[in-house]
Amino acid sequence: MSHTSKKMKVRRNDPCPCGSGRKYKNCCLNKKEPEPENIKDMYLKKYKIKLKEQADIEAIRKAGRLVMETFDQVRANIKPGITTDEINTLVHDFTVKNQATPAPLNYNGFPKSVCVSVNEVICHGIPGERVLEDGDIVNVDITSILNGYYADANQTYFVGTPSEDAQKIVNVARECLRLGMEQLKPGNTLGDIGWAIQHYAESQHCSVVREFVGHGVGFEFHEPPQVLHYGKKRQGVVLAPGMVFTIEPMINLGKKELNVLDDGWTAVTRDGSLSAQFEQTLVVTEDGFESLTPFDLK
Ligand code: MF3
Ligand code: CO
Ligand code: CO
Repeated sequence: MSHTSKKMKVRRNDPCPCGSGRKYKNCCLNKKEPEPENIKDMYLKKYKIKLKEQADIEAIRKAGRLVMETFDQVRANIKPGITTDEINTLVHDFTVKNQATPAPLNYNGFPKSVCVSVNEVICHGIPGERVLEDGDIVNVDITSILNGYYADANQTYFVGTPSEDAQKIVNVARECLRLGMEQLKPGNTLGDIGWAIQHYAESQHCSVVREFVGHGVGFEFHEPPQVLHYGKKRQGVVLAPGMVFTIEPMINLGKKELNVLDDGWTAVTRDGSLSAQFEQTLVVTEDGFESLTPFDLK
């Protein structure tokens, strides 16, 4: 089927998919729609975004399946008494055993194969001797490279029995990812995603970390665009089929400010409050999206 014969999904008053910033009706509505090849060129030239073909998406989906199988291993082993380094070993060995490579290892000098972030650690926790204790929350962020393709996802787990604060921040962070994903369809913008996340987090009196963002992914670990977890409706890049990127809101129970420890990686909440995060690798489709690292968000 030709691109032009599809039923119109962009409404007259929507931002024009060409990225001009004008309304569709005042821009490309009356022009012939660009052919898919031109859309690919346009996104590359304008935003340095590499739209993915079906074969690329299938390869990222395979990497994503491996990431999700790795989570099955991790989940079964999260309990009081395990060290974060034992989680690292588990992730590393399972990844390598499956002919894949853990992307974090040596990435910009990161020394381990997975990020493990406990309680007030927002992200980029380095696995080590820390022992998980009853009541902790722990975010495990896994990125695998399979046949040259990357998939990236993370989840926050309870260790033993969670406190009320722990339950609250984990539930809010999970809902933030779900609401961000709900915005994924051609014609919506990156700003719509950020707005949905920020609006909900702040309505729950939680805060959104600004220093770290979602990102294009697939051919590399971090590609354009940056996906902010805050923002304004109808602003930013217009979503197009074939865009593959993560949404990975980091949500704090207290204030949004952070410190990075002397190891150069570990980001912690400045006020010591709990922080939680969930992440999936997502592809925009003709009529919505598909998660390439799917897990339940209820
Ligand atoms: N997985 C993280 C992300 O979601 C990036 C970790 S970079 C590392 O983008 F070097 F710390 F591994
Ligand atoms: Co990511
Ligand atoms: Co990640």
